[in-house]
Amino acid sequence: MSFNPISMVVGALTPPPPSLTEDYDGLEYRWKVFTFRPALFQFEIFLLAAVLLYTALYFIGRSANVRRANKWFDAHLELYQSQFTKPHQKGGLTQDGNSDFFVFSTGRRAIKALHTTFTLRPRHDFFQLIYQTLWGFVELDYRVNDVVELTFTFKDSASVPDCVWAIVAKDELKGIRSKRWDLTFTKTTENPNLPTSLTVMSEFADITENLLKTHGPLSLSTVLSNPAVLPYFRSLSLTDQPRTRPYAPVPASERGKHLILSLNIPPSGTATLPLVQAVFQLVDIIAGEGGWGIGKSPLTSKGPGVGLNGSLRPETRSKLKKAREELDKELKEELAKEKREEQAEEKAAAKRKAEEERLSRLSASEQKKALEREKKRLMRKTQGKTKVR
Ligand SMILES: *[C@@H]1O[C@H](CO)[C@@H](O)[C@H](O)[C@H]1NC(C)=O
Repeated sequence: MSFNPISMVVGALTPPPPSLTEDYDGLEYRWKVFTFRPALFQFEIFLLAAVLLYTALYFIGRSANVRRANKWFDAHLELYQSQFTKPHQKGGLTQDGNSDFFVFSTGRRAIKALHTTFTLRPRHDFFQLIYQTLWGFVELDYRVNDVVELTFTFKDSASVPDCVWAIVAKDELKGIRSKRWDLTFTKTTENPNLPTSLTVMSEFADITENLLKTHGPLSLSTVLSNPAVLPYFRSLSLTDQPRTRPYAPVPASERGKHLILSLNIPPSGTATLPLVQAVFQLVDIIAGEGGWGIGKSPLTSKGPGVGLNGSLRPETRSKLKKAREELDKELKEELAKEKREEQAEEKAAAKRKAEEERLSRLSASEQKKALEREKKRLMRKTQGKTKVR
């Protein structure tokens, strides 16, 4: 037998051929020396098909999400363009992962910026999608929706009061306080001017009255009562507080005031347009800009109006101020208490360490004696306690 390195290598790499027994009577392909019997590879074929299917679903789901987000944004683009000098970043919608998108808009009176964020269902991940859907059946409060959230950040202005106020769809209500700490400032009330599926969360009725009354062409309650809009409305909130409880009082320079509109994305894309339009007007009414001062008709008044802060009753303003001062006091006290506890712990640890060091310097017999003394001391202590009882 001659020595052939190539055939040796090939021989080592090739798995032993499946035994081509003669009693195989299934489908078979032959080409020269090769024989392919599909029946012997059933599992591999199944696996390959599953991988291909999953990959196909990934791309289908991903592009479905891209289409959905773009459809909503395209429907609102003209409005954004009419409102901002920079309605979006370069390239329009930015994709962040497979189901998240965002738009950053800036250059408008009354607001520093608008962040539009899309959180869509995980359509790219078949298993997650199934899981979400099933969980939606089990847990009725578990919402499986495509959501778009518009966060308007106000410019620093005395016209925008420090307050927390919201209109929330009732099916969003459960658990909203755990996701939005700022809403723990509010009380939940019904409002006769709103559809029964909505509820108001407000610190004071004065704020609600001012925001729900008709301002020129804007009547928030009319817009929200529109049956084409209502199914997609989740919440609208005006807030000066963070979403999660801060550990320390937030310095004035870091406090931002936001108007946040949260919507389910309508399949048509356009259904929410009247509401988004109205929220731009609301921004001006709150900030008293663009001739939209509260209590003024935009047709007759020019120049800045008083804004929401100016139209609140002085008592409301002082109550709002007091609530924030109390929170800051509470946060400061908590912080101080935590610090005291930490210091006490550090002191105890230092004492323990010093004692250990002292013991380690003693001779073996002295250490034993010291331990016994300590034992006796502890025993006396416990006996003393039992006697007292
Ligand atoms: C609201 O107006 C009052 C009185 O005009 C003012 O003292 C207060 O600072 C204003 N609030 C804010 C948040 O600027």
